[in-house]
Amino acid sequence: MSESQNPLREGLRMQRTPQPNTVVIFGASGDLTKRKLVPAFYNLELERLLPTGFAVLGVARRDISAIEFRKQMLDGINSFSRNRPANQNLWESFSQSLDYLAGNFDDPQAYQRLAAKLDQIDDERGTAGNRLFYLATSPEYFPTILQQLGAAGLNESSRGGWVRVIIEKPFGHDLASALDLNRVVHSAFHEDQIYRIDHYLGKETVQNILVFRFANGIFEPLWNRNFIDHVQITVAESVGVEGRGGYYETSGAIRDMIQNHIMQLLTLVAMEPPAAMDANAVRDEKVKVLRSLRRITPDQVSNYTVRGQYGLGSSGGIPVLGYRDESKVAKESVTETYAAIKFHIDNWRWAGVPFYLRSGKRLPKFKQMPLQLFGKAAEDSDPNLLTLRIQPDEGISLRFGSKVPGQAINIRPVKMDFHYGASFGVEPPEAYERLLLDGMLGDATLFTRADEVEAAWSHINPILDGWRESPPTDFPNYEAGMWGPASSDEMMARDGRRWRRL
Ligand code: BG6
Repeated sequence: MSESQNPLREGLRMQRTPQPNTVVIFGASGDLTKRKLVPAFYNLELERLLPTGFAVLGVARRDISAIEFRKQMLDGINSFSRNRPANQNLWESFSQSLDYLAGNFDDPQAYQRLAAKLDQIDDERGTAGNRLFYLATSPEYFPTILQQLGAAGLNESSRGGWVRVIIEKPFGHDLASALDLNRVVHSAFHEDQIYRIDHYLGKETVQNILVFRFANGIFEPLWNRNFIDHVQITVAESVGVEGRGGYYETSGAIRDMIQNHIMQLLTLVAMEPPAAMDANAVRDEKVKVLRSLRRITPDQVSNYTVRGQYGLGSSGGIPVLGYRDESKVAKESVTETYAAIKFHIDNWRWAGVPFYLRSGKRLPKFKQMPLQLFGKAAEDSDPNLLTLRIQPDEGISLRFGSKVPGQAINIRPVKMDFHYGASFGVEPPEAYERLLLDGMLGDATLFTRADEVEAAWSHINPILDGWRESPPTDFPNYEAGMWGPASSDEMMARDGRRWRRL
């Protein structure tokens, strides 16, 4: 029996095939469209998960033809798609669903043209009046586009279909701007039409955190303060800012990684079992975690947080520039490229169990994102250690003590190890494939809700205030290719703990 005839797989395909629809990408000339979004649609087509009536309409200021747009997207697939190069036959048919419309985001006329174009696509491609708007522009355009969509009546379908909007990160720059942005979105769309994307939630291994916890009776009874000493969440990147200095100067590690991706990981590890696996039940539990996080006040930042910035160093043996020498970065920049935070969760499950979060650019040469839960140590032995590796070398391992063979009782730590690659032998879909499909299906479970984003910002804001009040005087304070500033190890040492070397 061939794969495509497998009834289980076919059943899944039917369950996960969305209704006909048009996806409108604002910011279609940008990197995200070419590197992630269109390759994700192409891979969904390859898996036969796209509906028959389907179209992608790219919108951007640049005046190019649909043919030119298709050519750029083909380049994108050939360079960045998980399956590449593009299969010629598939590309022939898939490319027919790609179209382009030039327009300025603040020009009301452009939205009139967009409305007419969408009706035309519905007629020609059978997309049934269902529309998914994707905001992939630079964030300063989000409010304008949302307002213009509302003003042009595009927040409702002229053909009685559904209308949804996916908003890329960053969602706000601080609490006040996130609240403002939520006000603007809500003036045009209902919350159930809004999909705030955090691509970490689309990663297979991140979704597996919930499966691991709630589908395996063995771990959940241990998942609390009685058995866990502390939790470490590390997102270590060996890359620098990769030509994104201009953006990064306005962001820094705390806004770029911690407020969104890492706090999302924290909520999944710490949440209570949801009443159901649906969007609101899951998100209710995540919000409860954020509400139970103890607020760090601006005057506490020196005890609970660490900032760092990389200087000259090397990555994989190759000399690399310091952050201040990267393009579009100020010579005296105080933007942090490393941040570590210690949070407490004041609820029954986690009282007294610190969560240490850290993320940095230009850390040693490999990229690893583990979540590590350290058990309480029995006397004289290493604590049990549960590691969830998000990427690369995706997997889960458990360390425990074992008797060393011989007459004496000597104990040494050993590991039980699970590797996704070896166990399943298939490549997991890209995060964007999953999330785009969910957006088309109307499943918001893996997207962040308004109250969730606001709750996350409410914890980051006082830290930003505290940092602003006492600017760093020691930047750069870690060499590119090293494990962040010494103060980060010192924060752990004060608690009698240490960062786990990866
Ligand atoms: C993005 C950040 O959201 O996530 C980048 O803006 C970061 O700075 C990236 O490199 C990491 O994502 P991934 O999927 O490569 O781990």
